[in-house]
Amino acid sequence: MLWNSTLEVGVPQIDTQHKELFRQVDILMDVNNKTRIPETLKFLANYVVKHFNDEQVLQAVSKYPKAELHKSYHTKFIATFNELKKEFDASGPTLMVMMKINKTVIAWLKEHIMVHDKEFANYYKSR
Ligand SMILES: [Fe+2]
Repeated sequence: MLWNSTLEVGVPQIDTQHKELFRQVDILMDVNNKTRIPETLKFLANYVVKHFNDEQVLQAVSKYPKAELHKSYHTKFIATFNELKKEFDASGPTLMVMMKINKTVIAWLKEHIMVHDKEFANYYKSR
């Protein structure tokens, strides 16, 4: 499992969705189950948008000062993810595409959660 407790931000709604994100990424990276990749990518494309929206709503209602900046990170990631999905749709699970997904999606998620989501969560909990 790619998720671990260091990724916990302490806001239950966010943590639950992060765990689900990583559960899906686990499925995506399972080399023994390549047939599930297309449906998992499709699920993730939708789930990421839903999750980001939910976070942005929490940031709006709590008047988070960095809400706009945070939203811009989300928007950029969605664009990158959709590019990768397009690449996958065109070429299938080549080593190249899977490595890119691994590097881009997993690395981005971890970094984003550790830095930016935690910063927001600390603000949210301290109000
Ligand atoms: Fe976020």
